[in-house]
Amino acid sequence: MREMLNTLRRDGETTSASLVDLDRSDSLYANRVKDMKSAATRDLMATLSRPGMISLAGGFPDTKTFGEETFREISHQVAADSTQALQYGPTAGLEEIRDVIVDVMAAEGTCARREDVLVTAGAQQGLDLLGKVFLDEGDVVLCEGPTYVGALNAFSSYRPRIIHVPMDDAGMIPSALREALYKAHSQGVRVKFIYTIPNFQNPAGVTLAAERRRELLKIAREYDLIILEDNPYGMLRFEGEAPPTLAALEQEETGRVDRVVYLGTFSKIFAPGVRLGWIHARPDILHNVNLVKQGSDLCSSNLSQMLVCAYFRRSDWRGYVERLTNAYRERRDAMLDALAEFMPQGVHWTRPEGGFFVWVTLPSYVDATAMLPEAIARNVAYVPGESFYGGEEGKNYMRLNFSFADPEKIRRGIELLAAVVREQIEPGRSLGSTGKSAA
Ligand SMILES: Cc1ncc(COP(=O)(O)O)c(C=O)c1O
Repeated sequence: MREMLNTLRRDGETTSASLVDLDRSDSLYANRVKDMKSAATRDLMATLSRPGMISLAGGFPDTKTFGEETFREISHQVAADSTQALQYGPTAGLEEIRDVIVDVMAAEGTCARREDVLVTAGAQQGLDLLGKVFLDEGDVVLCEGPTYVGALNAFSSYRPRIIHVPMDDAGMIPSALREALYKAHSQGVRVKFIYTIPNFQNPAGVTLAAERRRELLKIAREYDLIILEDNPYGMLRFEGEAPPTLAALEQEETGRVDRVVYLGTFSKIFAPGVRLGWIHARPDILHNVNLVKQGSDLCSSNLSQMLVCAYFRRSDWRGYVERLTNAYRERRDAMLDALAEFMPQGVHWTRPEGGFFVWVTLPSYVDATAMLPEAIARNVAYVPGESFYGGEEGKNYMRLNFSFADPEKIRRGIELLAAVVREQIEPGRSLGSTGKSAA
C-alpha cells in the first residue's frame, strides 16, 4: 500500500521536491508508529482535488448548503463574548454545549445527562482517548469487518489485536461475535471492548438490526465487555424506522448508563470544521477519559464550542439536517441507479438506508488496491477495501462515497469506474457469475 501511495503521489505531483522517505530514521521511531497505516483518502487528498477528478473516495459532508449568512450570524454572536471564546475552558467542555448535546441525543431517542457528557475534538479524538483508557498492548478489540479506518488508526497506537467480526445486511453477526469471543478466551487473551458503528456503517453502509443490538448488549454483559457505539450518521436516515441506540436500549433494560460508551459528533449534522464531538459514558469511565484528555489537549476549543451553541440554540438545526438528508438521499439514489446500469455481472453492492457510503464487492480475483491507479488515471477515485481491515483482508472491495459529489457527477463517476472494473473481469469468469444485485 505504501509503495502504491508513493506512486500515486508521484503521479499526482503532490509533493514538490522529493517524496517522503518513509523508512528514514526507522530505528528512532516508536513501534506504535510502525504499525499505523494512513487513511488512504488522506494520502490521496491532493490527487483527488485534481481538475476533472470525480472523487467517490472521501467521507466529506456537503457543507456548501450551510449558507454564508447563517455562518456570519453565529460568528457575530460568538464575537460578542470574545473573552470566553479566546480563553481555555473546562476539560469536559462548556456546560452550554453539553446541554446542547443532551438535546441532540434526546432527538435520537437517548436520554442523557450533562454530567455524563465530555466534549472531544471530534469523535476521532474520542476514539483515541478511549483507546488510551482501555487498551494495553495485546488486548483484543472486536470490531466489524470491515470497519472505520480512523478507528483502526486510533486504536493501533495502543497496539491491540484487532479481530474483525463478519457482517451481513443486518450488521455484525452475533453468532460470529460469540465465536470470536470463545476463541479469544480459549487463547487466554483479554478482550476489552466491542467497537461498532451501528447506523449506516462506515464503510459498509449497513445498519445493525434492533434484535441484534439487544443481543450485543447481552453478550457484553455475559463477557464483561464495554461496547463503543460510534454513531456519526444515525440522524442521516433516508427511509425506514430508526432502531434504538445501544445507549438507549441499555438504559431501557437496566435503568442506567453502564457498559455502552457512546460517541457522537457535530461533523455530519453541522460541520466537521468545528472539530467537535462527544463521549457519553458512566462517571468512572468519563473520569479516566478526562484525565487522558488533560494530557492530550487540556480542553476542546471554546471558540468552536460557542459557535456550535450559538447555532444549535438559535437556528433551525433540525431543518438543516432534513435538507442534508434529502440531498444525500438523492445522491444515494443516483449512485444505486448508476451501479445497476453500468456495473458488469458479478459485482454486488449494499443498499444503505442513510449515511454516506456504499460497499461494493468485486469478484474475488479482482484486487481493488492494484486497480486504483488505473481508476485515478481515468479521473475517478474510491477507497480500496483493504484500508478497512487491520490485516491483509478486503482486497476485492471498494468503498464509494455519495455525500459529496452531485448526482450527475456520481453517475459519470460510476460509469468511468464500471469501465475499469469491466476490464478486470475476465470474460470467461464473468459468464459463470450469479449476476449483479444489491447484496
Ligand atoms: C465511523 C466514524 N467515526 C468517527 C469519525 C470521526 O468523526 P469526527 O469528524 O467527529 O472526528 C468518522 C468520520 O468520518 C466516522 O466515519
